[in-house]
Amino acid sequence: MSSEHTARFTLDPAFSVSPVDERIFGSFVEHLGRCVYEGVYEPGHESADEAGLRTDVLELVRELGVTAIRYPGGNFVSGYKWEDSVGPRDERPRRLDLAWKSTESNRFGLSEFVDFVRKVGGTPMMAVNLGTRGVGEAIELQEYANHQGGTALSDLRAAHGDKDPFDIRLWCLGNELDGPWQTGHKTADEYGRLAAETARAMRQIDPDVELVACGSSNQAMPTFAAWESTVLEHTYDLVDHISLHAYYYPRDGDVDSFIASAVDTESFIENVVATADHVGAKLKSDKRINLSFDEWNVWYQDGSGPKLSDEPPSEDWAEAPRLLEDNYTVTDAVVVGSLLIALLRHADRVKVACQAQLVNVIAPIATVPGGPAWRQTIFHPFAQASRHGRGTVLDVRPQSPTHTTAKYGEVDLLHATAVRDEETGAVTVFAVNRGRESELPLEVALNNLGLTELVEHSVLADADPDARNTADDPDRVAPHAGTGATLADGVLKATLEPLSWNVFRLA
Ligand code: AHR
Repeated sequence: MSSEHTARFTLDPAFSVSPVDERIFGSFVEHLGRCVYEGVYEPGHESADEAGLRTDVLELVRELGVTAIRYPGGNFVSGYKWEDSVGPRDERPRRLDLAWKSTESNRFGLSEFVDFVRKVGGTPMMAVNLGTRGVGEAIELQEYANHQGGTALSDLRAAHGDKDPFDIRLWCLGNELDGPWQTGHKTADEYGRLAAETARAMRQIDPDVELVACGSSNQAMPTFAAWESTVLEHTYDLVDHISLHAYYYPRDGDVDSFIASAVDTESFIENVVATADHVGAKLKSDKRINLSFDEWNVWYQDGSGPKLSDEPPSEDWAEAPRLLEDNYTVTDAVVVGSLLIALLRHADRVKVACQAQLVNVIAPIATVPGGPAWRQTIFHPFAQASRHGRGTVLDVRPQSPTHTTAKYGEVDLLHATAVRDEETGAVTVFAVNRGRESELPLEVALNNLGLTELVEHSVLADADPDARNTADDPDRVAPHAGTGATLADGVLKATLEPLSWNVFRLA
């Protein structure tokens, strides 16, 4: 193949983006469908521990390597009464969940969530309800969760069996309040004022909490950018992060644009950074607002695409109905890999990110009630990125052959990033070949990195791009060893299979 068909870039430790905040490998547990019930929590299951948590799921969550775990929603949080979810289980009320037209039993609540997060080695990221509630309920929840003792609410927590505070450091000020579907939907000014007053009160309890203001539900929202600008004008000195949410699927069957979804992710990030910095400049502030990309994933929002089960949809107001149970393909896994690359490439400003969600609901882990748990295709790129993507992101500016997509025009076939472990000097290169038809030759010049050994080339690709993992065939799709890659004279050379996610580990 001639050299113009080769994708190339140079790595040099003198050109780095930023250390990775490990919370970029976060996840999300919402009271939605079977994420909580039959997902993380199934007391009757043979693997359940004394708290009713499925230990087979706990093991997979640890293997996945998730860090911050956002809870309890999502749209659910906009009707959430935290008091319902604490205290003796049998006394907890059943409630209508307007967001998902379900019935919430509250058998899993705040204490169970914190127990779950501790067992998987994560950190809690708690959302407060700014849809149907406000400042008062937010600070009551904060007092219940975090105050040491000697007040009504902290003593109530102790009486409920949790003597030690939960010490939740990271809080979301509501969820997607720009969206007309949100219970308690608001204008940017209404939300900005409420978020500012809530943040101010929460900081009166604890000046060091880390707070996330709601940004737009996606970049295509009609209020995008104006929303961020207005909200930040109200909250700039009071919050640490602004949120971003984005979901992708092949709209109108346009697979090439779907594979290039990270083009949207990266422009979304860059546009939010520009907007936040514009507000900072107007306010003559030295402070920089960071980004919490706290919902991202592939989600077939039109209902197309295979599902985990063929069961017909449940009636309205069912408990833990099967909702949003996408069964992911190889193509979806490559897109998820590319979205992870997009987040890492912007590690200077994206400090928190949560794949939505963790179990069953648009999730990397799937379960059968009373049966096994298994890894969906998208589990693999996330687990590899979390395991090998810790360190400092190096600047990657590829020269790549391109192809044309309907949605994004001309797009590089190569999408890549690299992360250097500062202690060992090891470097991991993550690379996606977006082309469905052809292999992509890759050459990476490794300057001043002292790298001599190719430890591993792992590939996720398949002759059948629609191949999936199912309960009956849970390991149909998994990474395999690549062939033919070499590292000599400071140059990594490899050939990327068509439509592939690749991990090169160099020491
Ligand atoms: O993750 C599913 C839903 O997507 C969340 O509840 C909501 O915040 C978003 O619209």
